[in-house]
Amino acid sequence: MKITRSLSGVALSAALLGVGFSNAFAEEETLRSLADKNNIYIGAILNSQWFGGGLPGNYEQIHKTQFNIVVAENEMKFDATEPSEGQFNYNNGDKMVKYAQQNGMRVRGHALAWHSQVPGWVNQKYGGNKKELLRVLKNHIEKVVGHWKGQVAEWDVVNEAISNNEPQWRTGSVWYQGIGPEFIDSAFVWAHAVDPDAELCYNDYNLEQGVNPKAKAGFLLEQVKRWVANGIPIHCVGSQTHVEDTTTDKHFIGSPDSLRSLAKELAKLNVKLKITELDIGFKSGINVSKSDLERQGQTFRQYLDIVLEEPNADTYLIWGVSDKWSWLGGLNRQKGLIYDDNLQPKPAFDSILVRLQTYEPPQDSSDKDSTEKDSTDAFKAIAGLTSLSIHLSGRTLSIAGATATKVEIFDMQGRPVFSAKNVKGSVDLKVTEGLYIVRVREGSVSLTKRIAIH
Ligand code: XIL
Repeated sequence: MKITRSLSGVALSAALLGVGFSNAFAEEETLRSLADKNNIYIGAILNSQWFGGGLPGNYEQIHKTQFNIVVAENEMKFDATEPSEGQFNYNNGDKMVKYAQQNGMRVRGHALAWHSQVPGWVNQKYGGNKKELLRVLKNHIEKVVGHWKGQVAEWDVVNEAISNNEPQWRTGSVWYQGIGPEFIDSAFVWAHAVDPDAELCYNDYNLEQGVNPKAKAGFLLEQVKRWVANGIPIHCVGSQTHVEDTTTDKHFIGSPDSLRSLAKELAKLNVKLKITELDIGFKSGINVSKSDLERQGQTFRQYLDIVLEEPNADTYLIWGVSDKWSWLGGLNRQKGLIYDDNLQPKPAFDSILVRLQTYEPPQDSSDKDSTEKDSTDAFKAIAGLTSLSIHLSGRTLSIAGATATKVEIFDMQGRPVFSAKNVKGSVDLKVTEGLYIVRVREGSVSLTKRIAIH
């Protein structure tokens, strides 16, 4: 959660309706509008192809409609921003910052001190030379953070400094080899001195495998405790969360619950947890079925729940928009994102959207406005300028004002439980008793409502 929630039951009811009765214009609910209502950031990278104008127009349209935070896939990394010593190139980063400003999005900076995507000159000229490497890293951080001061709200100051096997520092890094682990402490101090308002994160992967000392997150937690005790300005841990569907990788031991336990430990230190690079891939080459995609949607939802429910978690960032442009192929994985190759939303998109629609923040007793009432009544809701309306009587859902619609029913965890296509007048909902979300879509107009089936 980004800030203290102020969503009342009344506001929540309005959010569930998906349209404001006071507003005659249709306002399509998006991940972005719902993230705003839930006080969280939801985002996706701008893929490298975007910077060269190589993506179809609807990519950008989707991106700015659905997301309220953005990060560059490669364009703010060391090799992109300082390809030769002292020669800084901010063009692509500036392009993204401008795009974010024009569309009211938060900007995440990625990444300052990392062992990968470091230009050759660093190692060639200064490998192993502590004094020079300290100078090079300090200058890089001061120039880059200084250039985007006040525009980049948060930085991955250090990325992937911990080894992947038994938990210890990553010894192959040019920074570790030349400077030692204190390059991390220094990097945070330098970044903070240049932009004291920026949120500063340590970012890494495989942090969803538990916080015991044998796991990577356990090792990290000990370091965070030490940094905090020593007054190092670290404000957040980024969990990349590049995970694989559990059915295709039987050895994958990560879980949303484990990541949640890290969030809870960090809360004790007043440090935030952000999910910064989420993708949930399947092994390359296997056939991915509809039910696989639905299960994938549930895993996306479980990670989202951490961000919705843990007070020190505020960000849910996906490492790509469409499966067509994803780095996962190089990892021998596929189909890890929430839009398919044709930029059509996948079940994971629906699962996230519906979870955002149904999430009810814990309320104080003084703020107990019932959201139940309108779900038990027959109701009519109007989607903006069109006259699409729905009415429920028993299990019969009547639809007016539409020629051919799609009706979908989700349970309160966002799982799809029923759908019907090309419905004209009415449809019998084949669901058991309980509370559900119904979504009726025609073209780009959709109406979402909570219903109770008795
Ligand atoms: C990846 C990009 O997606 C690729 O285009 C690039 O070739 C390699 O880097 N962890 C990180 C990201 O912190 O910067 C990586 O991005 C993915 C893993």
